[in-house]
Amino acid sequence: MTSDEQRSRLVSAALAAREHSYAPYSRYRVGSALLTADGSIVTGCNVENASYGATICAERVALTRAVAEGRSGFVAMAVATADGGSPCGICRQVMVELGPEMDVFISDNTGAFRATTVRDLLPDSFDGSGLITPH
Ligand code: THU
Repeated sequence: MTSDEQRSRLVSAALAAREHSYAPYSRYRVGSALLTADGSIVTGCNVENASYGATICAERVALTRAVAEGRSGFVAMAVATADGGSPCGICRQVMVELGPEMDVFISDNTGAFRATTVRDLLPDSFDGSGLITPH
């Protein structure tokens, strides 16, 4: 569960991270902010590439950055775009992998947001249970 205060901190952090977006091709700027169980916030932004397929979404930047920093226990994520756009399918799959219980707050550029969950964003997901046990 996230408090009102955590939600507004997280949305503000996503809006601030959006300022760092590198989006010269689409001009669609995205910021993200990830809340960990210890109260830390890890931010991300979309980073585009002239080879379009090499573009990384803001959500995956925050999640992979947090993993690389040795963080775990992901509680919630805020995503900020101009129009309150919803996370893409690839990002939803990565959210399920790393933060299946996360709340997700989807904000526009005014800070107005709607609340959902990773479970609602990607029901009946592929969870790797049919794979050989990782080690
Ligand atoms: N983008 C994100 O950062 N997150 C999403 O969930 C949707 C799309 C970025 C990728 C690209 O830089 C731009 O938005 C347009 O697709």
